[in-house]
Amino acid sequence: MNTKETNEESWKQTYREKGDLWKTFYPDGYLEFKGLKKLLKKAKRGMNLLELGIGTGEAALPFLKKGLQITGIDITKEALEICRTKFLNSLVNPKNFYLEQSSLQEYQFPKRKFDIIIDYYTSQHVSRTEQDAFYQQVSSALKSRSMFLLGQYSKDYIEVQKNLVSEGEGVFISNSRYFCVVSIEDMIERLTNIGFIIEYVIPYPTKGFYEILAISEQ
Ligand SMILES: C[S@@+](CC[C@H](N)C(=O)[O-])C[C@H]1O[C@@H](n2cnc3c(N)ncnc32)[C@H](O)[C@@H]1O
Repeated sequence: MNTKETNEESWKQTYREKGDLWKTFYPDGYLEFKGLKKLLKKAKRGMNLLELGIGTGEAALPFLKKGLQITGIDITKEALEICRTKFLNSLVNPKNFYLEQSSLQEYQFPKRKFDIIIDYYTSQHVSRTEQDAFYQQVSSALKSRSMFLLGQYSKDYIEVQKNLVSEGEGVFISNSRYFCVVSIEDMIERLTNIGFIIEYVIPYPTKGFYEILAISEQ
């Protein structure tokens, strides 16, 4: 299966049919999620933030409003259009954000380094090998002692869901969308092996996902 093309088509269709779907699920935004909220508190005006798989910009918006410089990429042009409109409607300076259509797999990280990188439920849509390369790139793209917020579904939760087609080892297909996930413990080990220090882990057992804030050591 070509994960990139399958995902791209599936997400494109979702955004075309449902528009700003995350706003529909979370009308008050994402700050009920403690990991994101804690990160927002640590963020300072003028910092550079990169969100990979920015979608409709729901996670990045409060950071933009706080005065950070936002770079966002997403595989789906449709999502980026919604994101751009949302950002412009929030009356921030358009110079404070830059959006680019790209996949995680093909993204050319800029030479300048970032203070914050967010991967909120995006790298779970690429294969394990691609994830490993990607987390390594994230680590290199961060300034020393800077922050990486990761959100993912947990393998332990997925394994017991009945409505998913599982291909084993945390790989499954839902709505013709590809997922590749691990347990929280395995993700901590993977990030630690790359040199990240884990600052906090916030599980959401009933929802089935978790947030990890990791600090780059480099
Ligand atoms: C679950 S949504 C999360 C969106 C956003 N981070 C948020 O929290 O609202 C996952 C996003 O990843 C994007 N995506 C999926 N596969 C991707 C890939 N290989 N490269 C870049 N973006 C991808 C989708 O278009 C979608 O917008």
